[in-house]
Amino acid sequence: MNALKILGIETSCDETAVAIVEDGVNVISSVIASQIDLHAKTGGVVPEVAAREHVLKIIPVIDEALKKGNLDFHDIDAIAVTQGPGLLSSLIIGYTAALTLSKSLNLPIIPVNHIAGHIYSNWLDLNSIDEVEYPVLVLTVSGGHNDLVLLESPLEFKLIGETLDDAAGEAFDKTARILGLGYPGGPAISKAAENGNPHAYAFPRAMLNSGDFNFSFSGLKTAVLQTVEKFENNLNQQKINDIAASFQECVCEILIGKLRKATEKYNVNEVHLAGGVSANSRLREMLQEKMPNKKFRYTNKLSYCTDNAAMIAGVAYQYHMKNPDSYSKNTEAKPDPQLEPYQNQI
Ligand code: KG4
Ligand code: ZN
Repeated sequence: MNALKILGIETSCDETAVAIVEDGVNVISSVIASQIDLHAKTGGVVPEVAAREHVLKIIPVIDEALKKGNLDFHDIDAIAVTQGPGLLSSLIIGYTAALTLSKSLNLPIIPVNHIAGHIYSNWLDLNSIDEVEYPVLVLTVSGGHNDLVLLESPLEFKLIGETLDDAAGEAFDKTARILGLGYPGGPAISKAAENGNPHAYAFPRAMLNSGDFNFSFSGLKTAVLQTVEKFENNLNQQKINDIAASFQECVCEILIGKLRKATEKYNVNEVHLAGGVSANSRLREMLQEKMPNKKFRYTNKLSYCTDNAAMIAGVAYQYHMKNPDSYSKNTEAKPDPQLEPYQNQI
């Protein structure tokens, strides 16, 4: 059987991304036009600004992905695109581009869920999709999601825990804002934490022993705010570094603590980290420290942790393998900002 080349398009938030992936694993090219500098000025994503930038970037990024892969449109077998969740005005740009390519080239369109894409980013760069041994337990930690998901077989997502308020990424972003560390907060906190003492402040490990697999991070953000307010005008760089390190340690302990408890309850073969926060080096390190006997996988390339299109083309291949006929009829799907992450799309 010939390898299947899927061109993936991702524009759910502030990255315009296009990638070409073969058989769900082999990344031929992956191009990301980041808007970080643009949104750093406003301290967060302004949807209209993001959408305008996607309009400017989408065609050059498609061209670049083909060029980098030494391919043209006739080498592509299907178009995959993020259907949701995300910002509607951003999703529409990628979706329109995908639909246009699909109609004009007479190729199937495969609309996929962004969070499912994050989960399947761990399959990228393997030799085959069959290399992963189910059942798999995935901690999905991004700006909007903080979930523990059990996959007993491909694409069968069972949600076993989620955040009751903020996601970990959101907590990183809000805490960075409180500390004046800029946007995006995750990498900024991580950098400040390198020179800080992770035991300087005992922030609350909320819900760590709650007996379920849910999370809560809004109290932690408040605890950081109260600590900062206490210092009034005496907040120097060392204190900022110490708060950042203590905050990061707290988030990682809660995430890994719950993950470990879930592995005690569910008999899984592999444990994966996915989503932007999985780029955090302390989180990865703690996973190795606390569960040395488990088979882990997390995308070794940081560019696969945060938003990218390779993961979109990757998960699309999984859907295609599960039901090869379903997508030629799928031109009726629409971008959906609230798309449920774990609904089965087939
Ligand atoms: O998955 P992602 O790129 O976008 C969403 O789907 O939300 O995740 C973005 C989130 C942001 O909150 C960002 O601060 C966080 O991931 N993040 C990190 C790191 N890199 C990105 N958090 C902690 N440490 C990092 N190194
Ligand atoms: Zn994402």
